Amino acid sequence: MTLVNVRARSGLFSHSPGAGRNAWQKVTMRIILAITGASGARYGLRLCEELLATGHTLTLLVSTAGFEVLRAEAGIDWNGEEHEVSARLREHFHAQESRLCYYAGDNLLAPVASGSSAADAMVVCPCSMGSLARIACGNSGNLLERSADVMLKEKRPLVLVPRETPLSEIHLENMLKLARMGTRIVPAMPGLYHAPQTVEQMINFVVGKVLEALGIEHSLYRPWNPQVKR
Ligand SMILES: Cc1cc2nc3c(=O)[nH]c(=O)nc-3n(C[C@H](O)[C@H](O)[C@H](O)COP(=O)(O)O)c2cc1C
Repeated sequence: MTLVNVRARSGLFSHSPGAGRNAWQKVTMRIILAITGASGARYGLRLCEELLATGHTLTLLVSTAGFEVLRAEAGIDWNGEEHEVSARLREHFHAQESRLCYYAGDNLLAPVASGSSAADAMVVCPCSMGSLARIACGNSGNLLERSADVMLKEKRPLVLVPRETPLSEIHLENMLKLARMGTRIVPAMPGLYHAPQTVEQMINFVVGKVLEALGIEHSLYRPWNPQVKR
């Protein structure tokens, strides 16, 4: 299995002895990736590809609205029974069962629903304002929300990639509340300073920012350097 360099940051790997802020370690993580019904399903798909390519083990969760947006924006129809979706996902990402699993939203018996088998980190990408609000108030009505609740109660890394514009006071308050609890808020706001020429490059920018929040090394976009001609 490919191992990646992981930088200890923001307390993410504080359980790793001797991991200083700039220390780089070779580790793989068990990560929950949740795709909700915000626009930007392609960010979630690209992130899934990159996490699998860098050796991590994924549990994928998709909200009901997330399936709708996947269909509308990416032309992907994955909706179905849990075992059918699992098979479609593994085929799509060319992933083995040991590396990629999927649980339906109503499967509250899934391992990720319990603090005793909490993942190393969770990312909600993209994150709708609805899911963000429910996570912020601990309303664990489905597996996705329960998994995020577990990450918060177990003080494990949680990264949210919200997508909405404009933002209401409710949205901003919910993000502030979660940020104060240690959640990393990484909005789907692609920068333009790396002079992207394609949508893929803009998606890679956001996915790169998510990987940075997880402490995972990447080369998905060119860092700002005023010496480099764009
Ligand atoms: C094509 C499409 C795009 C959407 N984009 C957004 C969005 O960018 N942000 C958002 O908060 N909601 C968006 N929504 C609305 C959410 O899907 C809706 O609020 C849903 O109830 C969220 O449910 P979930 O959080 O369980 O996924 C969009 C809906 C559709 C159909």
